[in-house]
Amino acid sequence: MAKRRPAASEDIVIPGHVKDMGLVRAGRARIEWAERNMPVLRAIRARFAKERPLRGVRIAACLHVTTETANLARTLKAGGAEVYLCGSNPLSTQDDVAAALVGHYGIPTFAIKGEDHKTYYSHIVSCIEARPHVTMDDGCDLVTVLHTKKTKFLKDVFAGTEETSTGVTRLRAMAADRKLRFPVVAINDADTKHLFDNRYGTGQSTLDGVLRATNMLVAGSTVVIAGYGWCGRGLAARAKGMGATVMVTEVDPLRALEAQMDGYITCSMEEAAPKGDLFITVTGNKSVIRREHFAAMKDGAIVCNSGHFNVELDIPSLERMAVSKKVARPFVDEYRLKGGKRVFLLGEGRLINLASAEGHPAMVMDMSFANQALSVEYLRRNARKLQKNVYVVPKPIDKEVARLKLKSMGIEIDTLTAEQVKYLATWSEGT
Ligand SMILES: NC(=O)c1ccc[n+]([C@@H]2O[C@H](COP(=O)([O-])OP(=O)(O)OC[C@H]3O[C@@H](n4cnc5c(N)ncnc54)[C@H](O)[C@@H]3O)[C@@H](O)[C@H]2O)c1
Repeated sequence: MAKRRPAASEDIVIPGHVKDMGLVRAGRARIEWAERNMPVLRAIRARFAKERPLRGVRIAACLHVTTETANLARTLKAGGAEVYLCGSNPLSTQDDVAAALVGHYGIPTFAIKGEDHKTYYSHIVSCIEARPHVTMDDGCDLVTVLHTKKTKFLKDVFAGTEETSTGVTRLRAMAADRKLRFPVVAINDADTKHLFDNRYGTGQSTLDGVLRATNMLVAGSTVVIAGYGWCGRGLAARAKGMGATVMVTEVDPLRALEAQMDGYITCSMEEAAPKGDLFITVTGNKSVIRREHFAAMKDGAIVCNSGHFNVELDIPSLERMAVSKKVARPFVDEYRLKGGKRVFLLGEGRLINLASAEGHPAMVMDMSFANQALSVEYLRRNARKLQKNVYVVPKPIDKEVARLKLKSMGIEIDTLTAEQVKYLATWSEGT
């Protein structure tokens, strides 16, 4: 357990496992900074504090422990929930935020940046042993542990939410196998989530992570992006905007066609491997960059991943191919291959935007986490009517998040006139 040292007299001490309780004050300042850019969540928190719709609900949340997540946890707590938090990736925790959550906000948090595999899973177990009614996952690790190693805690759970594409894919596979034991709302599938968080959030913060780790010049370089989904589209647009030549690899013919018509060089990884200066995977798949691709790369090629798991890169093959490995600078491992060629791997292949940068800006996480908060409120009222399946966020919630976001930005839009409503409902009126 971390040494606990309250940072100020008003701070409280509650269970948790964090790196350094001396970071409470620093974490609190950053959480408050993020809060400034989360007006939708603030509005929900104000309502939750009055109505207390989550009173008596215990939530186990396995999310990236960042400033934005802290504001979500505060919102859920304001709604009356008891929240237990652990990290959803061993490298994404912000240690000052974890300290502030425990020491100031009274939210039990189990997360340490750089924790090993065993500690990572022990933190998930700590949250499960709190006997949650609701799971809130990012990548489905918590739900998987609950359904495999900790099944006795399943009986208390009435519903869950899932934040990201990869987690939703895993949950749909569980539901298809009839293994899922409670309904889960796929936050990722809300329009106000993937159209903004995945596209603009991942697009910007991934390049931010690459730049903080390497300080490379994007202009004039060739950036290879594997996957042209929501994340890949955002990333390609940002890299192009910074002056890169962008190459896209895909397995879906529609997405590949879209990438080509959006103006990118669309090809196989085999063709891209010898040309790229920077490679970024965002597919949600495994072994997208493999031995034969590493072997074909130029000396000095930089490789990283911004998809959920580091399996997108075949790191074991790279380890076997290397004659030596050293840390070139923080978050940059240099692998020297036979013949002297070097390949630089960033952030151990983990989501680079969270490993070496701060993840998505609060402005965009505002919408993702508004969906989380409102979906838990919805599940509290409606879980009994749902099957053990994966559900999309109800449309009224999605629209409400968009409405609140526009309002917070001071943007007014038109409304349908009575004539337009009638016109859209008729089939007989033509030119
Ligand atoms: N870094 C972050 O903060 C962040 C944020 C959101 C999502 N994610 C993660 O990023 C990944 C992608 O998310 P998304 O929302 O863009 O998903 P998506 O499903 O919209 O897109 C993934 C794309 O990858 C393509 N693909 C699959 N296998 C491939 C392969 N072998 N080669 C090339 N392309 C391949 C698919 O055809 C698809 O078009 C997921 O793992 C998701 O969980 C990360």
